[in-house]
Amino acid sequence: MHIPVLLNEVIKYLNPQANENFIDATCGEGGHSLKILQYNGPLGKVLGIETDKELYLRLKQKNIPRLILVNDSYVNLQNIIKENNFSPVNGIIFDLGVCSWHLDESERGFTFQKDEPLDMRFDTNNSLTAAEIINFWPEKELERIIRDYGEERYARRISHAIIEARRKERIVSTFQLIDILKKVLPKNYENHRIHFATRTFQALRIAVNHELENIEKGVKEAINVLDENGRIVVISFHSLEDRIIKNIFKEAEKEGKLKILTKKPIQPTLEEIKNNHRAHSAKLRAAQKI
Ligand SMILES: C[S@@+](CC[C@H](N)C(=O)[O-])C[C@H]1O[C@@H](n2cnc3c(N)ncnc32)[C@H](O)[C@@H]1O
Repeated sequence: MHIPVLLNEVIKYLNPQANENFIDATCGEGGHSLKILQYNGPLGKVLGIETDKELYLRLKQKNIPRLILVNDSYVNLQNIIKENNFSPVNGIIFDLGVCSWHLDESERGFTFQKDEPLDMRFDTNNSLTAAEIINFWPEKELERIIRDYGEERYARRISHAIIEARRKERIVSTFQLIDILKKVLPKNYENHRIHFATRTFQALRIAVNHELENIEKGVKEAINVLDENGRIVVISFHSLEDRIIKNIFKEAEKEGKLKILTKKPIQPTLEEIKNNHRAHSAKLRAAQKI
């Protein structure tokens, strides 16, 4: 079951009122959307965008009143709004990263805890998979994404080991990749603070889904489409994402477009982290359109 992260804080900053319209740019299993719908009746709507067709269809089946669902990427926000005649936009939420469903049920290799195909695509219509990167990208490119997107200090060692291993056989599963990593990473990797595969898996997922470029484009567009006094809330799960959001908000504030509502990012309480491990690295930033 997916537990929506920072739900009370999302409601506090989105501040949904009767008959207002909201966009859930990463609708997933609908956790945040459903909560917003409790506040913006009787006529307010939520436009939910989800790039993963399977997840989109699961939610669509539920036929939730006042929830308009679109299977698309939030980078196409402007077009999606136009096609659905959705205005004014009083608030937008982005909850980045994976849903519990991706880890538990998608069988696309999002987790290093299960032996699955190295896929990692949110949108399975795209051709680039994690296996394609691992088996065909040049060593330097592999090293670059593992270093830049995984913030992994052993990127060179890892990329070299992958190149050696793929000479012998195709690397198609998560456990094959884990075996390669295990052989070249220190036994006490980061003092066991995180699993030794965490950073490499993060890097692959970001590269496969063009996550950082998408966030940059999507959040900038979101600020543009917001109505006057509209609220934007973004929940990120690692420092690369958070830095992008922070800079976009700061820039927009300088340009007089936005007022930042969270001087420092909001983090979950220990209580929330205890109940929902996925929340442990979450950071929420919110702002209001001027
Ligand atoms: C953390 S989950 C959202 C969970 C949701 N807030 C809930 O409470 O159920 C993030 C979702 O964003 C989706 N996603 C990732 N990139 C996207 C994009 N470019 N456009 C739309 N959805 C995207 C993923 O497929 C995933 O389902």
